[in-house]
Amino acid sequence: MNKLVELASKQFQSAFGYQASNIVQAPARVNLIGEHTDYNDGFVLPCAINFSTVVAASKRSDGVIRTLAVNFEGEIDEFSLDASFSFQSLRMWPNYIRGVVAAIQQSEGQQGDKLLGGADLVVAGNIPQGAGLSSSASLEVAICLSLKNLYGLSINETEIAQISQKAENEFVGCNCGIMDQLIAVLGKRNNAMLIDCRTLQATPVAIPAGTRIVIINSNKKRGLVDSAYNERRTQCEAAAQYFGVNALRDVSLDELTIASTQLDPLVFRRARHVITENQRTLQAAEALRAGDISKMAVLMAASHESMRRDFEITVPEIDYLVDIIQDTLGEVGGVRMTGGGFGGCVVALAPKESVNEIISCVESSYARVTGLKESILVCNASDGASAISND
Ligand code: GLA
Repeated sequence: MNKLVELASKQFQSAFGYQASNIVQAPARVNLIGEHTDYNDGFVLPCAINFSTVVAASKRSDGVIRTLAVNFEGEIDEFSLDASFSFQSLRMWPNYIRGVVAAIQQSEGQQGDKLLGGADLVVAGNIPQGAGLSSSASLEVAICLSLKNLYGLSINETEIAQISQKAENEFVGCNCGIMDQLIAVLGKRNNAMLIDCRTLQATPVAIPAGTRIVIINSNKKRGLVDSAYNERRTQCEAAAQYFGVNALRDVSLDELTIASTQLDPLVFRRARHVITENQRTLQAAEALRAGDISKMAVLMAASHESMRRDFEITVPEIDYLVDIIQDTLGEVGGVRMTGGGFGGCVVALAPKESVNEIISCVESSYARVTGLKESILVCNASDGASAISND
């Protein structure tokens, strides 16, 4: 992270000719269990990880927001707040910044009025993109926190997450839930967070000492992610509507089973994933709290199977990684796909003594069997977004 901070401030100085007054960071996340439950008002158990987006910033006085993206070859996006900036850029990355600014402008209490001076921003990050580790949520939250600190906006942590989610929903076009943005704000060192996505209450659950979080990126390019994601969400909403409730959170497995012959079979399977995944997530929080990694392993395996069979969001490369890692770990650790799906990463939770075995089992066969080269990240559960310097 220190390197990123240095990079962002240096780039700021050389591109804009003066020093940034304010630097913030927001982390990536990995979800241990509770997939596609957030937008069903359910439970998730993610942790923030030690990869992040750093934003260096200073106020301007002419109503312009100018952003330089280090990871996009130093490209610059510039728009004026007094014109109608609510247009989307044809390039993808600027829309995350524009979306956050638009959401701040629309937020209660006219927070946006305070932004009228504008800002210079430099963004640098080390989160693998498109890997299901929430590089976008990290970017949105970092921008939002940066603008909050620059202009003294009175928005709390939950509101930062909600503004960032709105940017993604309305500007980027992914109808995502609140998990990624909330954990980027609320993450706690050495802890996962059990989040109730209805009340937005988050409870820390300590990662047992001696347990490691290992992330294996399949490097399988994710295609049509947003449309497939939005389709899953619509199917869940159709199931909730059938039961006359706001969200699948309010439907029990018994109620679903009784309705099985009435429901469209596909909608039934989607709902079964969500309802059982909510149960597994609550049980997983208990197991983790008790340091029972073998129980976690059983729950993670069931979660993966449910994503593969009922929610149909895994791909063969990911299933292969889960199979070989589970074979290697036996009962001492768990593994499952993490994130929205259709490629991306698997997460393993294992005793530190097993980390090398995981790495060598993946290195010895994944590339040979799939033709893709994995990348492996051994992570720490980290704190959420924070100011690094604030003049
Ligand atoms: C993506 C979304 C989240 C969540 C996960 C699946 O990461 O942004 O809101 O729905 O997928 O659990």
